[in-house]
Amino acid sequence: MVIDSQKLKKLFLDFFSENEHSLIPNSPLIPEYDPTVLFTPAGMHPLIPYFLGQPHPLGKKLANVQRCFRTGDIECVGDSSHLTFFEMLGSWSLGDYFKKEAVSLSYDFLTNKRWLNLDRKRLSVTVFAGDKDAPKDNESFEAWSSAGVPDEHIFFLGKEDNWWGPVGNTGPCGPCTEMFYDTGKPACSPSCRPGCSCGKYFELWNDVFMEYNKTPAGCYEFLKQKNVDTGMGVEHTAAMLEGKEHVFQIGAVRPIAKTVEELAGISVPTDTEERSIRIIADHIRASVFFLGDERGVKPSNLDRGYVLRRLIRRAIRFGRLIGIEKDFLNDVAEVVINLNEFDYPLLKEKQASIFAELRKEETKFKNTLEKGLRKFHRIAENSATIDGRNAFLLFQSFGFPIELTQELAAEKGIEVDEAGFRNEYEQHQKVSAASAKKLFKGGLSDASIETKKLHTATHLLNEALRVVLKKNDIVQRGSNITPERLRFDFNFDRALSPEELAAVEDLVNKQIRCSLPVVREEMTVEEAKTRGAQAVFDDKYGNTVSVYKVGKFSTEICGGPHVNNTKELGVFKITKQKGIAAGVRRIRAILTNPEEPKCK
Ligand code: SER
Repeated sequence: MVIDSQKLKKLFLDFFSENEHSLIPNSPLIPEYDPTVLFTPAGMHPLIPYFLGQPHPLGKKLANVQRCFRTGDIECVGDSSHLTFFEMLGSWSLGDYFKKEAVSLSYDFLTNKRWLNLDRKRLSVTVFAGDKDAPKDNESFEAWSSAGVPDEHIFFLGKEDNWWGPVGNTGPCGPCTEMFYDTGKPACSPSCRPGCSCGKYFELWNDVFMEYNKTPAGCYEFLKQKNVDTGMGVEHTAAMLEGKEHVFQIGAVRPIAKTVEELAGISVPTDTEERSIRIIADHIRASVFFLGDERGVKPSNLDRGYVLRRLIRRAIRFGRLIGIEKDFLNDVAEVVINLNEFDYPLLKEKQASIFAELRKEETKFKNTLEKGLRKFHRIAENSATIDGRNAFLLFQSFGFPIELTQELAAEKGIEVDEAGFRNEYEQHQKVSAASAKKLFKGGLSDASIETKKLHTATHLLNEALRVVLKKNDIVQRGSNITPERLRFDFNFDRALSPEELAAVEDLVNKQIRCSLPVVREEMTVEEAKTRGAQAVFDDKYGNTVSVYKVGKFSTEICGGPHVNNTKELGVFKITKQKGIAAGVRRIRAILTNPEEPKCK
């Protein structure tokens, strides 16, 4: 029997349930509370606070399927393995079992007849060879060896291959052990080994032993607890299990690509056409998941909306390249929805709005695409670079995301002055493109004490705004926290007066001076709602949620982490406020060193 993605997901979850892991829900693609990433980049991402020691409401052993999106891979899509949107199977031990048990579970799932039933002889693994930051991973070697993997199938490799994390610059990370399956293809060279990119060895699974925390100074310190974080890409593994050459041929993706081929009237694509078809299939698949997310995104020129716009416009452009003249996004989107509605019923529920948004964006862009392309070619004919002004003109007048201009320029072997573009952009838009650019790269804020303090201060600010502005319907629309400052977006349709800003600061500082305890409780979502908890996300932990209370002042559903008492915070100061969209305001604030804390 062929194991396809659907079956693989079920087997994985059944296996870990049988082995006493709690199944946690698939979180939204848009992280509910994360300082610094735009999209969930890995199954482990929503769990970072728990690697750091916070207890998880569902226990110490967890597993799930998580939808993920990686912007870094946009340019690679089109080859045989890259997807921007994908699903990841994950299992975790939060300070419970470690290497030996993790390896034994992985081996069992891969080779046991009841599960994937892979041929043991074709399995090989890699383990961390050790370096100045962390020792050679003999423990994993021993674990594999005693599980039954012959020593000559265990390879020691360096950090590039066998180290994972942190997400961003700092945070939990550690050595990993990866599992590979020999496809039977000939070795590309005598030194060909697991991890080689020639395609002989198929990467199946990655077990990360998260016992380190990388500090801002670049040091690796031990975390309070030793964690296991495993990740298996669904589409990728399904390709191997279904006996396919690549991810675009699997049952969960092929019908999308096939629809694109039909729309283009292509029956046997050339290599170039194949690349375009894959890009379109991937980008529309991702766009549907963005638009149909619990916390849905719409195309715009900022942050998440910009990434979505880029995906959609890139799909349209590649559509034109392979000769699709009519509007086609909805035809492809419908296939994506039908393929995924079983696991993601919300996609079907939101089908009408997904279609409407795609149509709107398609109409907007197709009107300017042709003209913009002509303009681009005229500029490109006459110069060796596209300067900032022209790149901005293409953006402003023809809706070309800078990346599109760069891609077109690269095809012609010419450069784009990106810094010049950003300069123009900032001047015209009064929006920091650089900060958006930084966000595109993702990166999770560390869980440093400074970040925790600002996180607690964010809860105080959230409540203080409701009190001072006398508006109970104020809710968080976004948040971004670094160790230096907090940024908080909320719905409000005018600028706050200096008096109001001062009143908000005073109210927050009063809570700080009152040394309020910060207490975490677990309860059902209903109970949290009854207690008036602020919530910026839905259903993340199934029915049980973690709620943070700051004294009696603030109650919020939140994953943490926070300080233990507001007296740790210092003095709260708002540094800036501005409107970022119709009806949405942004406040930036910092904490400065406290004078003697005293409760008035
Ligand atoms: N964090 C690891 C990965 O993304 C395992 O989940 O591969």
